[in-house]
Amino acid sequence: MGKITIAVDGYSSTGKSTIAKRLAAALGYIYVDTGAMYRAVTLYALDNGFIGTQDDISGLVKVLPKIKLKFVPNTETGRSEMYLNGKNVEEEIRTMKVSRQVSKVAAIGEVRTKLVEMQQQMGKDKGIVMDGRDIGTVVFPDAELKLFMTASPEIRATRRYKELLDKGEKVTFAEVLKNVQERDRIDSTRSISPLKKAKDAIEFDNSDMGLEEQFERIHEFAKRVI
Ligand code: C5P
Repeated sequence: MGKITIAVDGYSSTGKSTIAKRLAAALGYIYVDTGAMYRAVTLYALDNGFIGTQDDISGLVKVLPKIKLKFVPNTETGRSEMYLNGKNVEEEIRTMKVSRQVSKVAAIGEVRTKLVEMQQQMGKDKGIVMDGRDIGTVVFPDAELKLFMTASPEIRATRRYKELLDKGEKVTFAEVLKNVQERDRIDSTRSISPLKKAKDAIEFDNSDMGLEEQFERIHEFAKRVI
């Protein structure tokens, strides 16, 4: 078989992007972090007063065509970074300010339609590893390899808490745990494209697994299909 499409879905902070990035690099595939796209739209909505103390969802939907998203590779690290209307927002979209609101924005049908179209365009030639919540169910239902990542909420929150502390953000563990659980709840219960395991996805619980072991197992799954 030639190039395939690999969908990596799962709950918040299950290490989807770390493993997806590594797999893409090993296979020489493109990597796309769809969470970054929903986060960038959320940042735009926050900066322009469409969400916050009062939400103006219909106002946000009207200005969606003005929101231009682009992944641009960083020339030093080689990693792709999110640009929102020409500005690098890679760091800002990972802050708690955005995490607190993103699931609300991601539940808006028009936002999903716009981003899903872009994602399908990016993956039209295959040779892609895409991570998110609805990749195996909605974006690429015919993906040749689908993974569904899980881990206990406490383990996921611990990982995210460490990441945020390393970045200098002032957060408490309790706040991060609450955010991870709240996002999972909203993402799994929304009416449009809820987070759920595709029937043909391989469920992968990495609660007690190091990065190396995870990578080796998942790389093996991919090699079997390719
Ligand atoms: O992957 P990450 O945690 O950065 O995603 C942030 C949020 O974006 C998720 O909690 C979810 O609300 C939304 N999302 C989504 N569909 C995707 C990717 C992310 O709804 N494909």
